[in-house]
Amino acid sequence: MNISRYNYRSQFGEYAETLVNEIRQMLLNGDYILTEHVSRFEREFADYLGVSHVRGVNSGTDALLIALRALDVGPGDEVITHANTFYATVAAIRHAGATPVLVDADEESFLIDELQTSIAVTPRTRVILPVHLYGKPTPMSGLIQLAKRNDLAVIEDAAQAHGARIGNRMVGSFGVFGCFSFHPSKNLAAAGDGGAIAVNSDDLAEHVRCLRELGQSGQNNHVLLGFNSKLDSIQARVLSWKLPCLDAWNARRREIAAMYRERLGELPVRFQSTTPGEEHVYHLFQLRTTRRDGLLSHLRKAGIDAVVRYPHPIPLQKAFSDCNWRQGQFPVAERLAKELLCLPIRPDMSIAEVDYVCDHVTGFFRPRSAPAPRPERAVPV
Ligand SMILES: Cc1ncc(COP(=O)(O)O)c(C=O)c1O
Repeated sequence: MNISRYNYRSQFGEYAETLVNEIRQMLLNGDYILTEHVSRFEREFADYLGVSHVRGVNSGTDALLIALRALDVGPGDEVITHANTFYATVAAIRHAGATPVLVDADEESFLIDELQTSIAVTPRTRVILPVHLYGKPTPMSGLIQLAKRNDLAVIEDAAQAHGARIGNRMVGSFGVFGCFSFHPSKNLAAAGDGGAIAVNSDDLAEHVRCLRELGQSGQNNHVLLGFNSKLDSIQARVLSWKLPCLDAWNARRREIAAMYRERLGELPVRFQSTTPGEEHVYHLFQLRTTRRDGLLSHLRKAGIDAVVRYPHPIPLQKAFSDCNWRQGQFPVAERLAKELLCLPIRPDMSIAEVDYVCDHVTGFFRPRSAPAPRPERAVPV
């Protein structure tokens, strides 16, 4: 059996032909840039998130960069985020010209450590940038209070957490800005790159619009040093097509995660902690073990597309060597980089596929109970 991490065909459903015909028409009509498809998706996603505005941009990385620039964050300013995030979070801070200040992750939740965040605040801090990593919502109330006390903005990196909630509130709607990626790997996936910024303030929404459109206010009137970073129309159409399915897909991800937790919980492994009142959307299902590399090759040999996210912690990335972070400075992030492994999790995964993964994880830790290899289809007699 081969257990993949993605099944794009299943995401389009049985009426995919209708969408393909619409896209064909868009191609022929020249409906490419900032068409009604983009404004429609922006409205739909804003309604879904419960925010006043969404502005579509080129990617999740651009969403973060433009959000930072919209707050005039730049050289001399510090932005606090965590050491175990994806590279793009910190790259966006650097591209804005600001200084990333890393804090270590919490050992159980793998999210930003609130106490260390409060200690990291200096007179230069402008923004706290939590990442809802792997689809788990970062507890926001403490961070929002910390930001208020110190006159800071909160920008949420929700690139991995479309549809994740705390109580009834969607992640991406807590901070001044919520930044999303629609990279094809994401829970809400475009057919290429794409991103969005969620925002409640009318003024900031207009500022973001202006920044993404080369600082343009009316044709040929450039009032800001902007970017060219717009959500593509065809991607917007694909996203509108998929958005109505997102909650059901996330619910199915939670069911699969619950099966993994139940079936594998007796083994010498750990999982990302859960918090009452949260709705995790399991962009990634992380299993933690000190025997990670052995387990990874065992699963891959069995055709299971397990991967490591992320094997090289941010402080040790060559691209950030000028930040002078040291090995050992962020011990939790370094341990997580050595011990985490993602099991495949897709909304369309069958029980047989989940069983296959669980059997092989169990077989690695308890070789004597290893399952006999299952034939992929019945062998003719
Ligand atoms: C946590 C996080 N932040 C930012 C990004 C950047 O998004 P994109 O790849 O769309 O630029 C990603 C995804 O790739 C991500 O996982």
